[in-house]
Amino acid sequence: MDLKCILLIVGLVVFTGTASGNKPAKPNIVFILADDFGFNDIGYHAVNHNSKMKTPFLDSLAMAGVRLENYYVQPICSPSRSQLMSGRYQIHTGLQHYIIEPRQRHGLPLDNILLPEQLKRCGYNTHMVGKWHLGFFKEEYTPWKRGFDTYFGYLTGGEDYYTRYRCDGAKFCGYDMSTEGGPTNKTYGEYSAHFFASKAGEVIKSHNTSNPMFLYVAFQSVHSPMQVPESYSKPFAFIKDKNRQIYGGMVAAMDEAVKNITEHLQAAGMWDNTLLIFSTDNGGQTLSGGNNWPLRGRKLTLWEGGVKGVGFVHGKILNVPNPNVITNNELIHVSDWFPTILSAAQCQKAPGTQSLDGYDQWNTILKNARSSRSEILHNIDPLFVPMYYKKTKFTNSTVRMGFDTSVHAGIRVRDWKLLTGEQGMDSWVEPPESHVSTEYHDVDQLDHPGYQMFNHKPVQLFNIKYDPEERVEVSDLYPEIVDELLARLVVYNKTAVPVVFPPEEEEADPARLGGFWQPWVK
Ligand SMILES: *[C@@H]1O[C@H](CO)[C@@H](O)[C@H](O)[C@H]1NC(C)=O
Ligand SMILES: *[C@@H]1O[C@H](CO)[C@@H](O)[C@H](O)[C@H]1NC(C)=O
Ligand SMILES: *[C@@H]1O[C@H](CO)[C@@H](O)[C@H](O)[C@H]1NC(C)=O
Ligand SMILES: *[C@@H]1O[C@H](CO)[C@@H](O)[C@H](O)[C@H]1NC(C)=O
Ligand SMILES: *[C@@H]1O[C@H](CO)[C@@H](O)[C@H](O)[C@H]1NC(C)=O
Repeated sequence: MDLKCILLIVGLVVFTGTASGNKPAKPNIVFILADDFGFNDIGYHAVNHNSKMKTPFLDSLAMAGVRLENYYVQPICSPSRSQLMSGRYQIHTGLQHYIIEPRQRHGLPLDNILLPEQLKRCGYNTHMVGKWHLGFFKEEYTPWKRGFDTYFGYLTGGEDYYTRYRCDGAKFCGYDMSTEGGPTNKTYGEYSAHFFASKAGEVIKSHNTSNPMFLYVAFQSVHSPMQVPESYSKPFAFIKDKNRQIYGGMVAAMDEAVKNITEHLQAAGMWDNTLLIFSTDNGGQTLSGGNNWPLRGRKLTLWEGGVKGVGFVHGKILNVPNPNVITNNELIHVSDWFPTILSAAQCQKAPGTQSLDGYDQWNTILKNARSSRSEILHNIDPLFVPMYYKKTKFTNSTVRMGFDTSVHAGIRVRDWKLLTGEQGMDSWVEPPESHVSTEYHDVDQLDHPGYQMFNHKPVQLFNIKYDPEERVEVSDLYPEIVDELLARLVVYNKTAVPVVFPPEEEEADPARLGGFWQPWVK
């Protein structure tokens, strides 16, 4: 026998050995994404920070799971979702700037093989329920063309919770609800938390349990508009701030919806083999009921209130000693879910997969091992216009270490966080219900007497470990750290693709498309 032949036999033995089913079954993966759910809006944070939000069911899952307490997301919808689905920073997908608007010829580029596609190729049945917000101008960009076997949800960023109606400006209005077969108007009138929970239930019921399942539930809850059936907001009637009162009910409805989904999984006999991941997409919007206290800032900003996310993982596979919460303080980022979920699912990346910015954190979650990540590029957005702060825009560009510090950017390296350019709203907003006064203003205009700007400088440095609330700006004390982080920004900036932010098109008008938001380019 020659060497080749021996190698072939050895190879065959190894191959049949691994294929013969000694491996543990692949877990079902249920990823639940809340929309605009603030740091101080989940029960286990709220109780320590004067917030009256209650999430008994989410708390019970987190308390018997792994709570991620050094977990970061992106500050707005499309960006966070793009990183979850692609494992890449926005500088590598052209999505650096803001969100995908309904009438833009814009989407997460097709050369990325998305997470559901990866899981599908590795034997999973894949389903999505809820908000997409990653582009739909052409059908190729819709969830049902990007790896999900089935879909039920809406394609834009927000809409009425009951009617599915949304307007883009005053002129462009239509319904936004689609299945993998196209738009549908069957769900008119049902509150979306209930509706999405029952859709998820149908998916679970009809799932063939010989295969592993990936289910991505992207709730509308708890994004604006402020809407919820009154029975949910009634317990919060004591909160005088109307937005916060309704928001309390919206949070409660989402908590119940997650409970119902887990009950469907139990009824189908799938729960014991399910890994459930819960995450927010970004920080709370304090103008629409959300709260991130004691963190600074809010949704849309790179302050901790915009990017430090609520997140936890639950499942028997984690072997959490019962009853015993595990708090994980390792640095984890939303882009990490892509490789982490593939690892938990024992899946290889498909050939031709884009290069990832996310790290595999499966051992970090499973064994509390050190995170392989010591940096997060929060973003570099040369087009950033602070929404309400036009007056203060830095007009002089100051290049330091080769980086233009008038540009909106943020980076975390170890415990340090550097921000450059305009940062937008930079206040600490207490929960409205913690105020004795019934009058509550969350202001967002510079010329409002209640508004304050702090440390308004083009370069700001914070030590997040010792100063998680970003109260002490230390760039003058640590110039060498500033330079180190600027140098890292330069390295990232060198790999950036151009920002894509195309104009809005008349052709997208739902009035031309049967009354629905749907693809308009063939
Ligand atoms: C949860 O299920 C219960 C029982 O079927 C139902 O009454 C309730 O409306 C459901 N809630 C949500 C948010 O889905
Ligand atoms: C479930 O899937 C398995 C494996 O793919 C297949 O053999 C079986 O026929 C399926 N069962 C049903 C009821 O479709
Ligand atoms: C212009 O640059 C100087 C020097 O770096 C800085 O101190 C100042 O705040 C900047 N002014 C504006 C309006 O951006
Ligand atoms: C990033 O790199 C581009 C291309 O080299 C350059 O034009 C731009 O000024 C850089 N951005 C910053 C913030 O320095
Ligand atoms: C959807 O249903 C509602 C309620 O029946 C109706 O008012 C609306 O016109 C329908 N929309 C479309 C696009 O069919």
